[in-house]
Amino acid sequence: ARTYLVTGAASGIGKATADRLRAAGHTVIGADRTADPAGDGNPNGNGDSDSDSDGHGNGDGVAIAADLATESGRAELVDRARELSGGRLDAVIACAGLAHFVPDTVRVNYFGAIATLEGLRPLLAAGTAPRAVVVASVAAVHPSDPAIIEAAGAGDEEAAATAAQNALDRGEGHLIYSSSKAALARWVRRAAVTDDWAGAGIPLNAIGPGTVLTPMTEGLLADPDLRKVVDTSVPMPLNGHARAEQIAPLLTWLTSPENTHVTGQLLFVDGGAEALLRPAP
Ligand code: NAI
Repeated sequence: ARTYLVTGAASGIGKATADRLRAAGHTVIGADRTADPAGDGNPNGNGDSDSDSDGHGNGDGVAIAADLATESGRAELVDRARELSGGRLDAVIACAGLAHFVPDTVRVNYFGAIATLEGLRPLLAAGTAPRAVVVASVAAVHPSDPAIIEAAGAGDEEAAATAAQNALDRGEGHLIYSSSKAALARWVRRAAVTDDWAGAGIPLNAIGPGTVLTPMTEGLLADPDLRKVVDTSVPMPLNGHARAEQIAPLLTWLTSPENTHVTGQLLFVDGGAEALLRPAP
């Protein structure tokens, strides 16, 4: 059995992934904005009843409450992860993300994700067959805002948040999400082949889901007009919208010891959306 840290574990893709890992006998330390120490709060329950009813939060539900939009939340994540894991993790699966048209979206999706990966890397280095993966999006190939991507790439969080606010002010708030994910995929590509990751024997990848049926997309898909916009920008000829349980297996494989040579990739799990949007890759 391995020890995994999963962010965004309270809901959607993160929750489905944590459930899958626990069902396979692994230990999962869940993190999210708010904790669920009993492991039975199940705020976005998908119907399965979490078997653990002993009331001990460690490794069940969401053990770590940390707001990844903030420096203090990111530090809290790393401190608590060190405590709960005894200083060693075998894998990190960073799912926490936000799709709102607000500057916080770039703080969480880019700076929060990178702080998660970099902050937990020393714990991974102490683990067995360590691996890491982060959830980007097929939106990484959508139109984006160069100013946000450039500031993110330079590691300047305040400039990135300002660029996001500027996009919002000129009516292009939708570019914040795609830009945060494009910047994230670029970071993964660069970082994966450095001494910190490849040199330390740690595969690091991103995945790019298409439209997944989670609380993040519920409201959009419930509105017929917005649903049309979503399905035009993310066309999914293979099997349509995915369930979170259909995304989880790729995350668990990429972070399993079986993955010895896949690194630095943005792997689309999108029913063909990226292939349609970008026929010449
Ligand atoms: P979700 O909304 O069900 O889950 C996201 C989780 O991240 C929530 O539990 C939320 O509390 C947590 N989170 C948000 N902001 C946070 C913060 N500041 N600090 C700590 N945790 C925070 O959404 P879903 O769909 O499961 O999303 C998971 C990842 O997948 C996200 O990164 C999202 O961008 C990405 N994604 C989702 C797609 C979809 O269609 N649902 C498509 C492509 C990518």
